[in-house]
Amino acid sequence: MPKTILIVGGSSGIGLELARHYIAEGHRVCITGRRDPYMPGALFFHLSIGAFADQLVPAINELVAAFPGVQTLVYAAGFLQRGAIETLSDEALLTMTNVGIVAPMMLATRLKLLAPTPLKLMLITSSSQYTPRPQEPAYAATKAGLAMLGASLARDAGVGKVLVAAPSGIRTPFWRGADEDTTSMLDPVWVANQIIELSGGPFKYRYAKILRNPARVEIVETLDNSFAPVV
Ligand SMILES: NC(=O)c1ccc[n+]([C@@H]2O[C@H](COP(=O)([O-])OP(=O)(O)OC[C@H]3O[C@@H](n4cnc5c(N)ncnc54)[C@H](OP(=O)(O)O)[C@@H]3O)[C@@H](O)[C@H]2O)c1
Repeated sequence: MPKTILIVGGSSGIGLELARHYIAEGHRVCITGRRDPYMPGALFFHLSIGAFADQLVPAINELVAAFPGVQTLVYAAGFLQRGAIETLSDEALLTMTNVGIVAPMMLATRLKLLAPTPLKLMLITSSSQYTPRPQEPAYAATKAGLAMLGASLARDAGVGKVLVAAPSGIRTPFWRGADEDTTSMLDPVWVANQIIELSGGPFKYRYAKILRNPARVEIVETLDNSFAPVV
């Protein structure tokens, strides 16, 4: 049965690999980003998430209106600016926060109400979600926040399945321009395949780490529909 899938941050890397897979399966796919990758079979929506909330709100509203009927939200956008906390500009902090946590919250707010079936969420975090690093304080905070958003929404009876996938380093354009050796990082096609596999089957909430050296998946927690929400 074809599904309607919105992939925010689908113009590159993991999001683009997921889009390729879902298009090949015959689903209706919209990808967002700042650069159109001209992916056949996908609708592209230009979405640039910056520091300013007054620009983000109309952009999110336009996206939701342009691609109705979303059943699955894949949130793959990520922005990392490295540095000790005092070196990060206010603009970098605001952009990391908007990309990492505000935009997915705004999308969940809107899409939960509009979804024709209980909204399924696939949230891509990072090893930074659970590994504190002095050079990634703000990025790590947004990834931990995104994971907690997913865990909380999974306890909402009006929301469908929630997958939180926390990958370690992946060879993608994420590292473009950074002084980072990506040779031992994970293959993006392999990571996308693990995410697809993790998202299948009957569960309400699943949290998994996708680790490297050696490449492996560790499912940290899976909850089925019968678990009692904590109130
Ligand atoms: N690569 C890694 O080593 C690694 C490790 C752990 C976790 N992650 C996480 O995995 C996810 C996917 O990353 P990736 O490796 O596939 O990186 P990627 O190839 O750089 O893809 C990131 C996507 O997010 C979009 N994006 C980034 N900043 C944006 C902004 N300010 N406004 C709008 N869209 C924006 C990009 O769009 P445009 O390129 O079109 O602007 C692109 O579609 C991210 O959440 C990242 O934090 C990556």
